[in-house]
Amino acid sequence: MTAKGRIVPATEEYLMEASLIIRRGGLVAFPTETVYGLGANALDSGAVKGIFAAKGRPQDNPLIVHVSGARQAAEYAEVGECALKLMDSFWPGPLSIVLYSTGGVPDVTRAGLDTVALRVPRHPVALSLIEKSGVPIAAPSANRSGRPSPTSAGAVADDLGSAVDLIIDGGPTFVGLESTVVDATRGSAAILRPGCVTREMLARVVGLSGGGCGEIAHRSPGTRHRHYAPDIPLFLWDGTDRAPFREASGLKWCYMGTRTPPRDIGTPHREIIFSSLGEYARGLFARLREFEASGAEMIIAQIPEEGGIGSAIRNRLGRAAE
Ligand code: TXA
Ligand code: MG
Repeated sequence: MTAKGRIVPATEEYLMEASLIIRRGGLVAFPTETVYGLGANALDSGAVKGIFAAKGRPQDNPLIVHVSGARQAAEYAEVGECALKLMDSFWPGPLSIVLYSTGGVPDVTRAGLDTVALRVPRHPVALSLIEKSGVPIAAPSANRSGRPSPTSAGAVADDLGSAVDLIIDGGPTFVGLESTVVDATRGSAAILRPGCVTREMLARVVGLSGGGCGEIAHRSPGTRHRHYAPDIPLFLWDGTDRAPFREASGLKWCYMGTRTPPRDIGTPHREIIFSSLGEYARGLFARLREFEASGAEMIIAQIPEEGGIGSAIRNRLGRAAE
C-alpha cells in the first residue's frame, strides 16, 4: 500500500510508479517549469473529479491538459494555423493554448466548455510522466483552491498532503508563475492569463486580439474566482504612495519587491529585494507562503510596471490582494 502524500525523488522507478497511479485513476503531484501540478488521467472523468475534490475547486473551472507534443494535442483539439505557429514557437514551454475540443477530452475536464486548454511542459519530469502514463494529464496547480500556487514539493504537501497519492519532488520550479493562457479559437491569440510567455513574445509570432486581460476574463472561468491569496492581508505598493506602510504601523510586516521600501517608516520583520523581475516571478508564491508562516501580520509587495513579465506579476499580486 502506498501512504498518501508521500514525497519521493524523481527517479525512473518512482516515475514508473507514478504513471501506474495515473493509469489506475489516482492523483500524482509533479513539477513543471512553472508550478507543481496535481495530475490525473485527463480522459478519466472519475479521476478528474478527484482533482476537483482534492483542491476544493469550483466545478466550473476547466483544467489544462498536458500532452507530450503537438501531435498528441491534435488528437483532442482543432489545430488551426495560429495554434500551429504558437506550438512551434513556444512548446515545450509555459504557454497553454485554448482550442475547440474534438471530443476526446471529457466534459468534467473542460468544465462543460466546447474548448480545451492544452500545454506541453518544458520539464523533463513532467514530460517523462506524460510519456510513461501514455495518456494526457489534466493538471491544475497543486494548491488548495484559492491559495498561492506551489513552487516546491513541500508546498504541495502543506496544502494537499493526505489527498494526493504521490508527490514527485523535482526541486523548486524555475519559472514560478503559471503558464500564459491564450485563446486561439479565432485565428488570433487572446491572452486570458498573462505569464512568462509575454504579450510582446506572442505578438512576434501571431496576431493578438483583446486589449487587456480584464475584458476577456469571462472567457477563462478561472479568472473569476479568488486566487493566490495568503492567509494574512496583502497590500500592494506602487513605488510612491506611502499608504501601505502606514497600514503596517504597529504590525509585524514583511516586504518583497525589486525596489527597497522607504527607510523612514519602520523595519520589516522580513524583507526580500529581488534582483530582477524574473527573480520576482520565481520567488513570489514561495515568499507569500514563507511570510505567512513567519508569524507576520501583514505583507507589502511592490507592484511592477505593466509590460513583459511585469504584467504577469501584477496580475497575480492584484488577485492575491483582492
Ligand atoms: O502553469 C500552469 O498552467 C500550471 C501547470 C501545472 O501546468 N497549471 C495551472 O492550472 O495553472 P490552473 O488550473 O491552476 O489554471 C488553469 C487556467 C484557469 O484560469 C482556467 O480557467 C484556464 O486555465 N482554462 C483551462 N481550460 C480553459 C478553457 N477551455 N477555456 C478558457 N480557460 C481555460
Ligand atoms: Mg491554479
